[in-house]
Amino acid sequence: MPRTHRGVTAIYPGSFDPITNGHLDLIQRGSRLFDRLIISVLRNETKQPLFSAEERIAMLREVVNDYSNVTVDSFGGLLVDHARTHSATVLLRGIRAISDYEYELQMALMNRRLNPRLETVFLLANEAYSFISSRLVKEVFSLGGSISGLVPPTVEQRLKRRMTKLRKKGA
Ligand code: PNS
Repeated sequence: MPRTHRGVTAIYPGSFDPITNGHLDLIQRGSRLFDRLIISVLRNETKQPLFSAEERIAMLREVVNDYSNVTVDSFGGLLVDHARTHSATVLLRGIRAISDYEYELQMALMNRRLNPRLETVFLLANEAYSFISSRLVKEVFSLGGSISGLVPPTVEQRLKRRMTKLRKKGA
């Protein structure tokens, strides 16, 4: 018989450019629901992320350090293939509002078609974070607005350094 892990391994995939407190809330709750939770960062340079995959992974590792069953990895290619390499049986995604539903439904159904044994599990975002997205955080921050309480402090510091660097480059 093949050696398999006992318990349920879930993958929480995303761009995480950068991680927000909304993501962190989902990670906390996911870590309580599943035996192992792997946060998987999409290595997709065509999306032109603000932070490189290595930087996004480093930020995630800093903030999930205290969760013993949570690890961080990255992937390119199909998510279902990545899930298979970890023997994961669950994909975890968050839904903030009805506007997320259509995109999430499409992805979940496509992933189910590619691997019917992989279940997508949705958690509703905490209402305190339901308006937060990485895109809005970057936009507000770049225009001088406060993002305090929306991202972990370490992420805010890194954003400050990145924006200062970009401004100097542009000057
Ligand atoms: O944080 P995001 O950008 O909403 O995450 C999207 C992600 C990474 C979950 C999605 O783009 C993805 O799974 N990409 C991998 C490519 C893939 O497997 N595509 C087919 C299934 S939709």
